[in-house]
Amino acid sequence: MLYEIPPLHITKEQSIGWECGVGRIPARLPNGNMIGLPVPESENVLTVGVTGTGKTRSYTLPAAKALLNAKPQMKAVFFETKRTFLDAFMQSGDKVIVFDPSVVPPNNLFRWCLIKEIRQARDQEAEMRQIAEVLFGDLLSDAENNRAWIESARNTFIAVLRTIVDLYPDNTSNHDLINALRSMKVNELFAYLSRHPRNRSLLSKDFGYDVDKKDTYTPTRRATDVMFFFNTVLEKFGGSFESEGRDTIHDYLHGAYGRNLFLLHDLTASESSRPFIVYFLKKIKDEKLCLSGAVKEPMLWCMDEADKLADGGRSADFGLFQAATLGREQALQILLTTQSVEHLFGLAPGFNEHIAKGGLAGFPVVISFRPGDASTISMLQTLFGSARHDITAMPLSRYDHPTVKSDLEPIVSEADLTSLKTGEAYIKFKSNAPQKVSILINES
Ligand SMILES: Nc1ncnc2c1ncn2[C@@H]1O[C@H](COP(=O)(O)OP(=O)(O)OP(=O)(O)O)[C@@H](O)[C@H]1O
Ligand SMILES: [Mg+2]
Repeated sequence: MLYEIPPLHITKEQSIGWECGVGRIPARLPNGNMIGLPVPESENVLTVGVTGTGKTRSYTLPAAKALLNAKPQMKAVFFETKRTFLDAFMQSGDKVIVFDPSVVPPNNLFRWCLIKEIRQARDQEAEMRQIAEVLFGDLLSDAENNRAWIESARNTFIAVLRTIVDLYPDNTSNHDLINALRSMKVNELFAYLSRHPRNRSLLSKDFGYDVDKKDTYTPTRRATDVMFFFNTVLEKFGGSFESEGRDTIHDYLHGAYGRNLFLLHDLTASESSRPFIVYFLKKIKDEKLCLSGAVKEPMLWCMDEADKLADGGRSADFGLFQAATLGREQALQILLTTQSVEHLFGLAPGFNEHIAKGGLAGFPVVISFRPGDASTISMLQTLFGSARHDITAMPLSRYDHPTVKSDLEPIVSEADLTSLKTGEAYIKFKSNAPQKVSILINES
């Protein structure tokens, strides 16, 4: 029998090796010393932890504050399901995208105008397709046998947008557009669409509509079925997304409003607001990463539990991982929080695990508050790295030699992670070893 002697805990005085960054978040090391936790200036940060462990208040909120104070030019886009960031950062010119218009002052409410958004885009046809793809995305993702009908409905929607954008100079508001479409009969709608020559082949192929025999047309069975899906999407327009406003994401990105844009995702109106929020985030990402450098100012994305966008088994792919891995050169910095690494799969197309895991390569700084599920724990242990631990085993017989076993073990054990209290976290800054800290917050 061998007696195993546990490794001695030798505390070495070592430098933590964190670079300066901007601002300092007050924290305490396990040995009781106070330190200032640096906020990295241009690195993406992933913060993980179960609910109520301090992801938002201990790290993301003070980090965003430090960054915005240090960089007056920086624009900031906040995604959240509560209103912590809104209450902390909203200024008079800022815009808030939220389904329920009553939760923010009228001047701050973002009242989207999709026709104006299309007109302002570089490639208007591509923008129409993009909007239609996102709006019909949920229907198409579980389309099964109805795919052909839903695609026809999507093309009809694009045809409506094309007619207005190309043939009428006014920026029709979403309210007027959607209500006109809701009240139009099928014949009236097709007669309207037929004014644009590019729509005629769609009308004749999908609906048997002949422009020269408008008056005698009776809607086919297929036309009625397609209209069912068309109307389903019109019903998604509600709350502030169906308003009289003239606001666009393009205007925000080109400095027409304040510095901040808030996307407040109301989980009770999730079905209606989800597609719009996914489209807005995608648009912001495309404009920021675009090679022509349309948005020159540095930009901060505070994505507080953006994975909540992927509810009801539907993924919310707005290109977060692409932004995380490609945005550094375009001065895009992301602070992402999540309760579980598995939730992040919902932000990849089709819940693709590989894209989500690969996307973590875009986050050089990882902060772990207490994690709560097995995959997150093992993923964090891998990200935090392993080290060799020597175990000396003494022989039973005094004539034998002690044996030393060397095992590779995670630097931060499961017990270390699962025993973290609120406000305590392991932090890994780039290539430095993970460091336990206890963050001190000012609740005032
Ligand atoms: N460092 C800390 N010291 C003491 N209390 C803290 C600390 N950090 C957070 N708290 C408290 O814990 C509670 C939860 O914090 P927070 O909202 O940041 O959690 P969270 O991880 O973002 O949770 P959720 O996932 O639900 O959003 C808050 O009431 C906050 O006051
Ligand atoms: Mg939170």
